[in-house]
Amino acid sequence: MVTANPTGTDSRPRVLLTRRIPASVQSKLEAGCSVELYDGPSPLGADELTRRLQGKQGMVCVLTDPVNAEVLGGAPDLKVVANIAVGYDNIDVAAAHSRGIVVTNTPDVLTQSTAELTWALILAVTRRLGEGERLVRRGGWKGWALDFMLGMELGGKQLGIIGRGRIGRAVAARAPAFGMKAVFAAKEGRSSPDPTEMSFDELLVSSDVISIHTPLTPSTRHLIDRRALARMKRSAYLVNTARGPVVDEKALAWALNEHLLAGAALDVYEREPEVFAGLLDLENVVLAPHLGSATRETRTAMADLAVSNVLAILQGRKALTPVNPR
Ligand code: DGY
Repeated sequence: MVTANPTGTDSRPRVLLTRRIPASVQSKLEAGCSVELYDGPSPLGADELTRRLQGKQGMVCVLTDPVNAEVLGGAPDLKVVANIAVGYDNIDVAAAHSRGIVVTNTPDVLTQSTAELTWALILAVTRRLGEGERLVRRGGWKGWALDFMLGMELGGKQLGIIGRGRIGRAVAARAPAFGMKAVFAAKEGRSSPDPTEMSFDELLVSSDVISIHTPLTPSTRHLIDRRALARMKRSAYLVNTARGPVVDEKALAWALNEHLLAGAALDVYEREPEVFAGLLDLENVVLAPHLGSATRETRTAMADLAVSNVLAILQGRKALTPVNPR
């Protein structure tokens, strides 16, 4: 822990930083604020967060920090919560808003890295890379054969995208490079003249790869459930780089065991870092440890944007990327 205000004479705003960030970005924050850095091995729990937020006007946090109504209620001086993530389902935004606390996220800067990771997963699962790598490593490969470990080619296939935000659109933009046609799920109840949009059900039954890019909200929790999985083509693949709880993992394991779809690639899980046990033994599932935005470039840009948001609010300016505009 670093305390920049050991004598109590520092009149600059006080900020809790719940994870170490690149030094250049941390210095930028420290130039304007008195910073307490939590650098422990495991994420802070709600009680410890509340304790450390006493007397703090700002917080730079990450998606594993539970910034719930109790935490916000116990931090009377707090003015801004800057999440180093585009998703903010770890924060009770309504509770923050009612207390006049600005919540910010990090859109745009992670779009490219997350779109790239999505394509890495699409390619990995359709070409059986995880399975092949495990085989080679355990010495089980017997050599080239004409019919050995055949996957699915992407050319001419349909990529169904659930979530037409920045990342969903960036994934779609890369589809022509692989000869795929990208379509989007239309918002519920909306009949769209846009030929690249179709109903959720139509997308489920007609797509060869389905990729999830929707935020986690009460209406998207378990959007991909038994019913949805049963509607997919048996030859189709499911990819999730959004938020784990959008997919019912137990239902996914069931559907894969029943051969209702060909495979799945997941970067996010319902109870991270736990993975539903039924998925771990399946060869046709690629499992990544929440790496969507994990590039040096992106993580630095995310931290920088979060710090800029905190500085803006604490210096009386407007946040750059507020979630709850005031
Ligand atoms: C996000 O920004 O929401 C990502 O999941 C972080 O990797």
